[in-house]
Parts: sequence; structure tokens; C-alpha cells
Amino acid sequence: MSPPSDDALRHTAHPGEIVGVSEDVWMEVIDKMDQVYSDLLQYEVALEQKNAKLEESQQFILSVLTSMSDIMLVCDRHGIIQDANRSLEAFCGRGVDALRGTSLFELFVDPLAAEEARRRLFGQGAKEVHDCELPLRARDGSAVPVSLNCTPRFNAVGKSLGMVMTGRPVGELRRAYQALHEAHEDLKRTQQQLLHAEKMASLGRLVAGVAHELNNPISFVLGNVHALQRYAGRLAGYLGTIHRGADAEEVEAARRSLRIDRILDDLPSLIEGTIEGAERTRAIVDGLKRFSAMDRDEVEDFDLVEVVERAVRWVCKTAREDFRVELALPPRIALRGSPGRIQQVVTNLIENARDAASAGEAPPTLRISASLDAGRVRMCFDDNGPGVPAEILGRIFDPFFTTKPVGKGTGLGLSISYGIVERHGGTLAAENRPEGGARLVLTLPEA
Ligand SMILES: Nc1ncnc2c1ncn2[C@@H]1O[C@H](COP(=O)(O)OP(=O)(O)OP(=O)(O)O)[C@@H](O)[C@H]1O
Ligand SMILES: [Mg+2]
Repeated sequence: MSPPSDDALRHTAHPGEIVGVSEDVWMEVIDKMDQVYSDLLQYEVALEQKNAKLEESQQFILSVLTSMSDIMLVCDRHGIIQDANRSLEAFCGRGVDALRGTSLFELFVDPLAAEEARRRLFGQGAKEVHDCELPLRARDGSAVPVSLNCTPRFNAVGKSLGMVMTGRPVGELRRAYQALHEAHEDLKRTQQQLLHAEKMASLGRLVAGVAHELNNPISFVLGNVHALQRYAGRLAGYLGTIHRGADAEEVEAARRSLRIDRILDDLPSLIEGTIEGAERTRAIVDGLKRFSAMDRDEVEDFDLVEVVERAVRWVCKTAREDFRVELALPPRIALRGSPGRIQQVVTNLIENARDAASAGEAPPTLRISASLDAGRVRMCFDDNGPGVPAEILGRIFDPFFTTKPVGKGTGLGLSISYGIVERHGGTLAAENRPEGGARLVLTLPEA
């Protein structure tokens, strides 16, 4: 085909029109360009937003890494360091740029440690390693044992990329442990002191009770002995008259003036009273001896009823006059264990009931009852106090928990009792009775 002639061209081309392209086509091209341009603008805005987000999250990660006190590094599968945090820089005295691209094994103090690290950290494939203690070289060249943790890193399709290693100088852990240990020791010492204070306080209460109890027989023994002394003087005078060989009339006169017949009438009751007083004193001392056996954990067969009665006697000596204890117990409850320890438990339960019940208007009363069932004794201590407030019911067995004023209670009574009862194979629990007042329930295996 021949090319169009100049004439033909001139004929079809209007001004502003390229030959062979219509105006419509041009409009279409311009439209498309507009659209592309606006798409580009949109992409740019989205890109900028994404960039800002990326930067933000990078900042966040950086701030986390920087503020981490543990050392941390990221390495590839061959142990070549890809990144490290500020703590590692500070620890080894090299900047992160200097660290990047070097082998992580250079961080260890000597080739032996590096070899050990290679075996333990890389020896088992992509596995986590925890608390692996190895020496790293600190910035001053010294060897510092570090507890290392390694976690493998994977890409999106699960291919191993290397790992993340974190570590904490063991010295720091040891220091923290040491501080904890010291605090614990301090606490134990304080607890011992408080235990001692509790012992002294119960000793004080005991001594007060004993003093009160001894006072009575001793004072009447003393009174009797004074009377006997006076009588002895008069009898000596009378016998003197007889021995002098005085006549019957004189002797009779002396007998009347010295009131010898009255002395003879009085003597048996005086002597009896003195013996009784001395015996009561001995009984008290016996009781004391048994009480002092409390510190010994001797295992023996004993009667719980006897222990309860003894404890009631002791507590009542220091209680309000109107404190009443009702006992509803079988004649004998045979147990095996330490009677001294069980007495300590019962004494504290009675003391607690006395303290609680004394707070109310009504005369303080405690009822102790026991039932035997399937080889176990169940003993209830029911008082007419206000009961244990629900919010502290779960805490009264805690050591040092007390609602009593300073100097009145240590809060050790129930916690020590709980331990004693547990060692005897029993249980101790507290509840509130629907009719009011607290009930402490003690169960123990029968002998
Ligand atoms: N029968 C009871 N009624 C009401 N509250 C009680 C009763 N028994 C114990 N509690 C509460 O339990 C707390 C702890 O008793 P616990 O015997 O352990 O210590 P404490 O009696 O306060 O002191 P301590 O026994 O050393 O003299 C008491 O302070 C009291 O608040
Ligand atoms: Mg108590």
C-alpha cells in the first residue's frame, strides 16, 4: 500500500489534532492519567501512615530493649550477632555496631567457656535453654558468671533463623537471694522473740494464778503455826509448874490460868489444818510441775478429761469471779500424746472464750462438751461471747493474728495450738453458733 499523500494528510488534520487520533481518545488518556495520579497520591498517604506506624513500633521495641536490665542479643544460626541491647553494650564495653557481625562465642571469657556454650546452646538444634550458667567477659576483662536463657527464632514458614539470648549476671541473683535470706533470718529472729514474749506472758499469768492459789493455804498454815507457838509457850509454863513439884492446887491454878484444856481441845484441828494447808501447797506444786512439763514433748497415755479440768482450774484463777465453765464430759477420754501440749491447747481455747465472753453484758459462760465416735473424740468449746466476725474467721489461725490490745494477746495461741493438734493427728476449727457465740471444735484420735 502506498503512503498517504501530503494532500490527504492536510485534509484530515484539524488544528490541535494529531493525525489519526481523535479527540475522544485524548480525553480518555487524560482521564486515565488523572486516575493514576490520584491513585499515586493515595498510595503515598498510605505509605506515609504505614511508615509512621513502623517507626512507632520500632521506637517501642527499641525503648523496651534499652530499658531491659538483662543483657540480650539476637544472632543467626551460626551465632553471628545481628543485634544487641544497651545492657550488653554496658556489660562488655562494646557498642552494638562493633558487636554486629561478630560471633557470640567471642563474648565468653575463654575458648573453654565458648566451647561449652556451643555445646549447650547450639548442640541440641533449635531448642530452648534455661538458666545455663556460663562465664562472660565483662568490660574490665574479668569473668562474670551469667545465667543464660536461649529461645530459637523462626521465620514465617518455620525455618530456623537463629536465636534470642538473654542473661543476667549471677552475682545480682546471688545478691538478691542473700538479701532475701537475711530478711528471712530477721523475720525468724523476730518470731522467736515474740514466741519468747508469749512464753513470758503466759508464765506471768501462771505465776499470778499460782501466787493467788498459794496465798490461801500458806496464810492459814502460818496462822496455825503462830497459834501453836503461843500454845507451846503456855504448855511449857504448865509443865514447868509440874516439874518443879508444885502441889496439886498450884498445878490446878496454872492449868486454869494458862487455859490448858482449851489448848488440848484446839490442838487436833490446828494440826489437821496445818497438814491440810501443807498438802494443798504440795498439790499446787505438783500441778506446777505438770505445767512445766509443757515444754517437753513426751508421748504418754493420758486422760483428756483430767487435762481439761486442770486447764479450767488454772484459767479460772485469773478470770472474772462470774466466769462460769460447764463441763459435759464422759468420765474418761483416753488419749496418747503429750498431755502438756494438749493442756496448752485447751488452756488457750478456754482463755480465748473467757476473753470473748467477758466483753458482753451477760455473765461470761463457756460450755465444754465431748462426744466419742469411730475412735475419735470431738470436743466443743461453746462460749456466749460475740462470736468471730465473718471477715476474720479465715485468719484467726494465722500466726500473730490478734484483735486484742498490745500486751494482752500475741496472736500465737491458736496458730501454735493448730500445729500441736495436727501433730497429734487431730483437727481444730472455728465456727459461729446460730444462737450466738463462737464454737471451737477440737477433734483427736482416741488411744
Ligand atoms: N472464742 C472466740 N470468740 C471470738 N473471737 C475469738 C475466739 N477465739 C479466738 N478469737 C479471735 O482469734 C484471735 C486469735 O486468737 P489467738 O488465741 O491465736 O490469739 P490471742 O488470743 O489474740 O493472743 P494469745 O493467745 O497469744 O494471748 C483473737 O485475737 C480473737 O480475735
Ligand atoms: Mg489466745
